[in-house]
Amino acid sequence: MIGGKIALVTGGSRGIGSAVVEKLAAEGATVIFTYHSNRDKAEQLTERLRAQERDVHCLKLDITSREEVLAALEIIYSQYGIPDILVNNAGVNRDKLFVQMSEDDWFEVMNTNLNGVFHITKSVSYKMLLNSKEGSIINMSSVSGMIGSVGQANYCAAKAGLLGFTRSVSKELGRYNIRVNAISPGYIETDMIGEIPEKHKKEMMGRIPLKRIGSREEVANVVLFLASSMSSYVTGTTIVVDGGLTS
Ligand SMILES: NC(=O)c1ccc[n+]([C@@H]2O[C@H](COP(=O)([O-])OP(=O)(O)OC[C@H]3O[C@@H](n4cnc5c(N)ncnc54)[C@H](OP(=O)(O)O)[C@@H]3O)[C@@H](O)[C@H]2O)c1
Repeated sequence: MIGGKIALVTGGSRGIGSAVVEKLAAEGATVIFTYHSNRDKAEQLTERLRAQERDVHCLKLDITSREEVLAALEIIYSQYGIPDILVNNAGVNRDKLFVQMSEDDWFEVMNTNLNGVFHITKSVSYKMLLNSKEGSIINMSSVSGMIGSVGQANYCAAKAGLLGFTRSVSKELGRYNIRVNAISPGYIETDMIGEIPEKHKKEMMGRIPLKRIGSREEVANVVLFLASSMSSYVTGTTIVVDGGLTS
């Protein structure tokens, strides 16, 4: 389905991103993924997948820096080619009640989850259309961007912004056969939800119709669907992967 395609995944060193890297590489894509602070994890993942004959490469990138993004993309374009698939997955949360939220908490979350997506998508989508690529761009949003969440005004604003961005850019790029979609995961078992107290997690599970937290692979499966021609008539939309939480 995606054999021979080039995929770029941001934040692939751990969590959902690493499952996406594994999934796309297992399906035959050349996968280039970025890490920010976890070089060891990124290199271990690369080595493990290469031992399985997957074509995987990693490079360091702070997505909040426009200069770093453009420099990394130049390396990617010249060494591997122009991506057919872009998965904007990198993200952070800095949860605080709004009245206690610092400007740093606000801007770090905006710069990583939303502004970083602007820098990378602008360059990659332009290259895709100049080279007549049938592209697929997948933005990792969150149910928090749909329903709001206490202590996450910064995160919810960034993730809601990503949904508007997805819809607008899909309208502009559709004529070039570049599809743009978003995924809104609910609670997925990664470091990001690791700090939630057990009591709160149990309470949360009570509100999820499927009565469990989702796995990274369950999100990666949806990424594969959106990346492949299985979703060739799907653009400008959001697939919610939340066990029914927002139903
Ligand atoms: N887990 C959930 O329940 C959940 C729910 C809804 C949405 N999401 C979204 O899904 C995506 C992945 O989440 P996750 O749970 O897998 O998170 P995670 O385990 O915390 O991993 C975050 C990833 O983003 C990278 N990253 C962080 N800051 C970065 C920066 N400035 N520049 C480049 N990369 C950076 C990290 O790289 P290093 O490790 O190298 O620092 C890491 O690979 C995020 O966009 C998140 O908002 C997650």
